[in-house]
Amino acid sequence: MAQVFPKWVDDIPKRLLIGVIILLNGVVFGVWYFFSPEFTHVGYAPEQPVPFSHKLHVSEIGLDCQYCHTSVFDSRYANIPATETCMNCHGQIATDSEALEPVRESWDNGMPIEWIKVHNLPDYAYFNHSVHVNVGVGCESCHGRVDRMDVVFQAEPLSMSWCLDCHREPEQHVRPVEEVTTMGYRVENQLEIGRELVSRHNINAPLYCQSCHY
Ligand code: HEC
Ligand code: HEC
Ligand code: HEC
Ligand code: HEC
Ligand code: HEC
Repeated sequence: MAQVFPKWVDDIPKRLLIGVIILLNGVVFGVWYFFSPEFTHVGYAPEQPVPFSHKLHVSEIGLDCQYCHTSVFDSRYANIPATETCMNCHGQIATDSEALEPVRESWDNGMPIEWIKVHNLPDYAYFNHSVHVNVGVGCESCHGRVDRMDVVFQAEPLSMSWCLDCHREPEQHVRPVEEVTTMGYRVENQLEIGRELVSRHNINAPLYCQSCHY
């Protein structure tokens, strides 16, 4: 069906709503609870154009997340790797695999592979990867055990209350920066280490509305 309005029009009511709520914040403190959706997209796992397995490439071959997601520490956005990154190996490995046909095709014709985005925040909520990973918030805190996923799925709700739960108690979650891409990180004395990291990095995870909505 033809779209009558451009997509951005859909966003206006929520943007306005948030603006109004922020203005009235003192009065309606806590009102956002009523708006938080009951349902989430946990478990969403769209079928991808190439059956790429993180389990194989991370757990079995042993690649670090940053081999492919090179921009997470430097940029607001995490990147999906270019076809060239795959061809570093698949120029020589499994060259007659049918599953890799779209990769070779993309390499030959220069058109990027059309990966389907798994995690989607609404664009009225601001999020920045580099800010989080540079103070030691691990990939797995937000994306789960990607190293065990043959198909990536959304492991956490990404809802507002989920963001705020960590912002209220970051010491429960932060780890040394060198461990950010480690999967299955766990220490006995999390609280002790967490508190030390919070003070060492001057961590200040915001709770006020304008930090994520403006
Ligand atoms: C060999 C390259 C490679 C490595 C290594 C790799 N990834 Fe990926 N990643 C991809 C590709 C390609 C996609 C897009 C296809 C898909 O979703 O499976 C992707 C998708 C993702 C997504 C979903 C993005 C979305 O669409 O929302 C997350 C999250 C992710 N990777 C996290 C990780 C983490 C965490 C690690 C390290 C434990 C890692 N990746 C290691 C190539 C890689
Ligand atoms: C560091 C080397 C390396 C990189 C980089 C790499 N792969 Fe692989 N990949 C492998 C190896 C090794 C296998 C296992 C091959 C086998 O089983 O014969 C494999 C297997 C696969 C398979 C399964 C092939 C089959 O027929 O079973 C797919 C699909 C695949 N890779 C996609 C990708 C994609 C997409 C990328 C880029 C995002 C990528 N790989 C990057 C090394 C790599
Ligand atoms: C504090 C939570 C958090 C941490 C930590 C985090 N991510 Fe994400 N990630 C997200 C959110 C939220 C999105 C969706 C962003 C959006 O839709 O704008 C996302 C999206 C992605 C995407 C998809 C990007 C795209 O545009 O398709 C990839 C890939 C990804 N993350 C990889 C990683 C890797 C690798 C790490 C660790 C080095 C990591 N993330 C750490 C929350 C996080
Ligand atoms: C597991 C913990 C954790 C989760 C989950 C998390 N954050 Fe954060 N966030 C932090 C920490 C720690 C900081 C403080 C960074 C600093 O002080 O440098 C932070 C800082 C921020 C900031 C301020 C810095 C900036 O980018 O302007 C924003 C905005 C933010 N987070 C948005 C979000 C959103 C939106 C979500 C949910 C989609 C989210 N965060 C989920 C831990 C988390
Ligand atoms: C740490 C980041 C963060 C802070 C701080 C924050 N929000 Fe949100 N908010 C979000 C995210 C992320 C969503 C999108 C949730 C989703 O898609 O389920 C959201 C969604 C909303 C919505 C839309 C309804 C909904 O739940 O989907 C409203 C209204 C809202 N926020 C109001 C507020 C108000 C008022 C404040 C201050 C009291 C506030 N937010 C503070 C991250 C934040």
